[in-house]
Amino acid sequence: MSRGGGKPGAGPRALKTRVKKKRGLKSSSRRWLERHLNDPYVHRANAEGMRSRAAYKLAEIDDRHRILAPGMRVIDLGAAPGGWCQVAAARVRSDPENPSVVGIDYLEMDPVPGAAILKMDFLEDAAPARLLALLSGPPDVVLSDMAAPTTGHRRTDHLRTMHLCEVAADFAVGVLRPGGHFLAKTFQGGAETELLSMLKRNFQSVHHVKPPASRGESVELYLLAKGFKGKAGE
Ligand SMILES: C[S@@+](CC[C@H](N)C(=O)[O-])C[C@H]1O[C@@H](n2cnc3c(N)ncnc32)[C@H](O)[C@@H]1O
Repeated sequence: MSRGGGKPGAGPRALKTRVKKKRGLKSSSRRWLERHLNDPYVHRANAEGMRSRAAYKLAEIDDRHRILAPGMRVIDLGAAPGGWCQVAAARVRSDPENPSVVGIDYLEMDPVPGAAILKMDFLEDAAPARLLALLSGPPDVVLSDMAAPTTGHRRTDHLRTMHLCEVAADFAVGVLRPGGHFLAKTFQGGAETELLSMLKRNFQSVHHVKPPASRGESVELYLLAKGFKGKAGE
């Protein structure tokens, strides 16, 4: 996938396919299916061979904030089905014979050229060491798009995903190379003051980013911490 490229979507494609009521779907499922079928990022992902529409979130964040560069080592937490691994592997020019991108997910995923994949729960004690063992040195970038499975109870979903974000941040400050970056999915609102101040102590800059590919109506947001100060900052 090339850098740049316009935002897909606005234009004649907008909401053309309608799912008929008589298909027996609940109205929430019908709305989801309609949105999916009419989503320009889904069409683009299919056309460009990307594993997920989420791939464009990382691509757009990187286009704007320049966190990935050739030669970097990257860890991707919550990697399935592999869109972020694809973008990261392309942008750091990872060698498929000796990948500099490592992804982890407890879900099965198809191999991604240029990425080593660990099928494991990141919350397991052994996960950090297993991830590092697959890289030839400390990572330059830690990415986390981890999201807890939704329960339908908004507050519970929020707290679980925030917990994943905090564990990912602790991991990042423990392993990143000085100057490195951390990008993680979070949610708008909620108690993240402690996490933000920890990141501000450890990184040169901390931003909230909402790439165009992240749906406007979604409370999803990304935390981007750039320029890790090194262990002394802790
Ligand atoms: C939004 S998806 C990631 C999409 C991915 N960035 C892409 O572009 O294809 C979130 C992923 O986080 C994974 N996940 C959630 N909790 C996890 C955990 N504790 N350990 C490993 N993976 C986890 C889920 O299984 C899910 O595949």
